[in-house]
Amino acid sequence: MYLDSSMVLQLYLCAVFGLASLFLVRWKASGRFRKVASSPPGPPGLPFLGSVSLLWERKPWLRFTEWKDVYGPVVQLRIFGKTIVVLNTHEAAVDLLCRRGRDYDGRPRSILISEMMTGGLAFPLIHGDLWKRHRRAAQSVLNPRAVEQYHGNQERHSKQLVQDLLQDPEEWPEHIKRSLYSLYCSVGYGDANKDRASYRIRNFIGRIVHAAIPGSSATDFFPVLARLPTWLSPPKRHYLAQFRADNREFVGMVSSLGSDVTTGDSMVTSLHGTNEMSTSECAWLIAVLCAIGGEVTSSVLPTFLLAMALYPDVQRRAQSEIDNIVGKDRFPTFEDRHKLPYVQAIVREVLRWRPIGPIGFPRSCLQDNYYGGHLIEAGSIVVPNIWAMNRDPLLYPDYDEFRPERFLNFEHDVPGALGQGHVSYGFGDRICSGMHIANDALFINIAVILHACDITKRLHCPLTKDVFEDFGIVTRPGIFPCQITARNNDV
Ligand code: HEM
Repeated sequence: MYLDSSMVLQLYLCAVFGLASLFLVRWKASGRFRKVASSPPGPPGLPFLGSVSLLWERKPWLRFTEWKDVYGPVVQLRIFGKTIVVLNTHEAAVDLLCRRGRDYDGRPRSILISEMMTGGLAFPLIHGDLWKRHRRAAQSVLNPRAVEQYHGNQERHSKQLVQDLLQDPEEWPEHIKRSLYSLYCSVGYGDANKDRASYRIRNFIGRIVHAAIPGSSATDFFPVLARLPTWLSPPKRHYLAQFRADNREFVGMVSSLGSDVTTGDSMVTSLHGTNEMSTSECAWLIAVLCAIGGEVTSSVLPTFLLAMALYPDVQRRAQSEIDNIVGKDRFPTFEDRHKLPYVQAIVREVLRWRPIGPIGFPRSCLQDNYYGGHLIEAGSIVVPNIWAMNRDPLLYPDYDEFRPERFLNFEHDVPGALGQGHVSYGFGDRICSGMHIANDALFINIAVILHACDITKRLHCPLTKDVFEDFGIVTRPGIFPCQITARNNDV
């Protein structure tokens, strides 16, 4: 057969191209490609120690936000050989945590909290099939329809809170804590059992919050310590004994209350014996939901009080909306909600302005991933910088100001926010399970407090936005001076 020179050239190019493709495919499959793809950019850090100073730095999200300008939307750092990847933009968070959710639905291993203190049964810290069962069960009692059954309970608790605040305003932090724990424990275990449950759950979460402060657990940095026998490790003995005591109490409450008539419309009634979970899984799910609900919501309400004391015009506008719709002779209820858009906007702004979890709840990457040409390694801890996203100047002009009106005609589509207007509830399949009951609790407490009280700065006591303290991954206002007085109402 006769071949002209152009055919020879074509054959030659095909052969070269084919061989090159074959080589590329084999090279990628061999795993050597993995080593060549670069990691996302980030601070260089010290040899072995990496960016260890971040462990002791207050409010690390401020540093992450600075790094966004230097290194871009995805930043990688290392601490003691652990890789941490920070997602600084909505786009990166949605691409990875929502669209590639299956690769990012893990949680970092925490030997102290998720293994020793909670026996691998704490819903936010687990993954795999156990997590899926917990998630389904939680959705069944916390979906938007289900939470309506708690509205009466929420209204009663908010009225009691206002009475306590007006009777004894100096003690506002404790009144708020007591009321919110009581609410969630009553939703969890029934009204008749809320006091016993509140006591135990507050004690439990107090220990967890303490253990979650970075650097408080040597075991998480040196896992070999967890393998020591208990007789050689007093801390291990102590944590395991506490776990057994919590377990006895939580399982005991569910076993004794599961068929008890005093539990009413509670989670125990809905979940016990009716789903795919064992009694101890069910017991830990309810305890954990009550603990997170009480702790988180009671940490968000002080942000609202602070905003009202600092922005009196916002407070007056909300009170006049409530006065027009509700009047002075009854308290606001959930029936009024759709007629109180400004109060609803305050709920969103409280959550956006100072998110309780500025870096969310860290995830872990379950398998090697390539994003923007960079390799994100399996096992990396992945942190969404919610603080930076909620302060995106294109979505939120004057982002540091408390301006609820921004949400009145809010036409932006905030990626990943599921219509909330902010990303404080996290992303994708692991987005906060309690967001609907939390929105309800914040709405009714804010509406009832604004209806009944004036919140002002104390005379001669300077008050600024900078009263926030950080507790590991959580931030909330410390105790600050403010005055709570009765408005002139007829209820
Ligand atoms: C008050 C405001 C609240 C905020 C701002 C908030 C925020 C968050 C965030 C950022 C996450 C991590 C989501 C992610 O990984 O992407 C989360 C998870 C979670 N939240 Fe909330 N939360 C709130 C209230 C609540 C309440 C009231 C409950 C329970 C009644 C609750 C239960 C949970 C649970 C169980 C998870 C873990 C879900 C999972 O891992 O699948 N939260 N929350």
